[in-house]
Amino acid sequence: MSIITVETTPIEGQKPGTSGLRKKTHVFMGPHYLENFVEAIWAAIGGAEGKTFVLGGDGRYFNDRAAQVILRMAAASGARKVIVGQNALLSTPAASNLIRQRKTDGGIILSASHNPGGPDEDFGVKFNTPNGGPAPEDVTNRIFEATRRLTAYRILETQDADLSRVGFSKLGAMEVEVVDPVDAYRVLMERLFDFPAIRALFAGGFRVHFDAMHAVTGPYAKAILERALGAPPGSVVNARPLPDFGGGHPDPNPVWAGELMERMMGEGAPDFGAASDGDGDRNMIVGRGIYVTPSDSLAVLAANAHLAPGYAGGLKGVARSMPTSRAVDRVAEALGIPCYETPTGWKFFGNLLDAGRATLCGEESAGTGSDHVREKDGLWAVLLWLNILAVRKQSVAEVMAEHWRAHGRNYYTRHDYEAVDAAVAQGLMDDLAARLPGLAGTEVEGLRIAAADDFAYADPVDGSRTEHQGIRIELEGGGRIVYRLSGTGTVGATLRVYLEAVETDPARLALDPAAALAGVIRAADALAGIAARTGRAGPDVTT
Ligand code: G1P
Ligand code: ZN
Repeated sequence: MSIITVETTPIEGQKPGTSGLRKKTHVFMGPHYLENFVEAIWAAIGGAEGKTFVLGGDGRYFNDRAAQVILRMAAASGARKVIVGQNALLSTPAASNLIRQRKTDGGIILSASHNPGGPDEDFGVKFNTPNGGPAPEDVTNRIFEATRRLTAYRILETQDADLSRVGFSKLGAMEVEVVDPVDAYRVLMERLFDFPAIRALFAGGFRVHFDAMHAVTGPYAKAILERALGAPPGSVVNARPLPDFGGGHPDPNPVWAGELMERMMGEGAPDFGAASDGDGDRNMIVGRGIYVTPSDSLAVLAANAHLAPGYAGGLKGVARSMPTSRAVDRVAEALGIPCYETPTGWKFFGNLLDAGRATLCGEESAGTGSDHVREKDGLWAVLLWLNILAVRKQSVAEVMAEHWRAHGRNYYTRHDYEAVDAAVAQGLMDDLAARLPGLAGTEVEGLRIAAADDFAYADPVDGSRTEHQGIRIELEGGGRIVYRLSGTGTVGATLRVYLEAVETDPARLALDPAAALAGVIRAADALAGIAARTGRAGPDVTT
């Protein structure tokens, strides 16, 4: 067993995006690619010497091999210990929990989240800091800087560590602790939620259907929903994590979780349906005959969180990413608590959570979470919903109808134009940005623009400023159009258009969202010339 120093040269483009470095799997498997990036992580945090890390991933293709490489590099760089999930599996929220609970110096999560997996699909590596959250910009900038200066990395020459059994072993001088990926997470959930009440709900015949999409939440949902809470076996489907997610797209939205949608809208649907994504941080909530948008889910959870023991004391505040609908804003107003609007990406919530300014956070992209960890958390959202339903003894549809009557309804949809030519997409954004000063007060497709700006965020905790986070067009009457380019795509550019219309008339709270939003959708296209510029007749994905 010897430490070898491998000479390398900088590799272009290793700049972490919204959520770590994501590339095609074959790119990550290329010579020195993973090694360079990991060495840059060590460099960005002042070395690995004497440190303890958490390591795990969502089980996608190359997860197991990458974990072995990272273990050998950690050992060669003098890390004291790595806590790794059995078979190198850890959901993102479970990893965040372990980093916090075990007070480690951070962790490395192997995942490309909701992107498909496999040799021709995507892979990703993300570093989380000791607070359990994704590395903030100053750290990711340092990582990127380091990737541009690398000349060598160190790696231990040795056999693979046995990650199949829970327990302790050594890799060189470094300790490797293999832990059950679910245990600590389940204990945390038991502390936050009224398990006996949910157990009683299930015992009373309430039927739950959880689609793990062959991704990492399978073992978590089985252990918690079926074994701990007594949902009948088979309530969790597609529960075995597979390297290619069974050929599917592990993104819990009405498009990719189409099977779940069909079941929940069909005859004899269960009472509650849910799904999670590749690495377990996203969630999708569906009641019998009713899909709950993530923005609405955040608002309902904020309004009802006090019904769960972990939040019985109330919320300190809430936060949402800018493109997320403003449904939660009105809940915050009613509760008399602050509501923060942050740029897209979970990392911007970290400071608010750490500073105790916000308890609940959410994004329209199916991410909801709280200060229990520093990542969004799919199964947590499912359990909070179940806890609320168990206490309120109402169906999802009844809860939603009451919520809209009390707060009004934000009709909402997102249109994604994928793999658009990067220059075309940038041109569209630049031209819009140039026209911003003249837009307020003008009309587009019969809708009047109340305000328009290029969103910038001043972090109230550390004072840092983040600019160009998307173009906001505010319409009179509370509607909104937001344009943004994705920071997680791997091919060309993805243009996201977020569309919102507010309805408070009690007679208009149950419209078809597509109809309620038709005018805003037309205005969005007219304003930016999407069809003309991209040549696309419509979005590739509508959620
Ligand atoms: C997308 C979502 C964003 C989420 C991120 C990571 O980022 O829109 O809300 O935080 O994935 O899961 P985007 O591709 O839009 O930059
Ligand atoms: Zn994810």
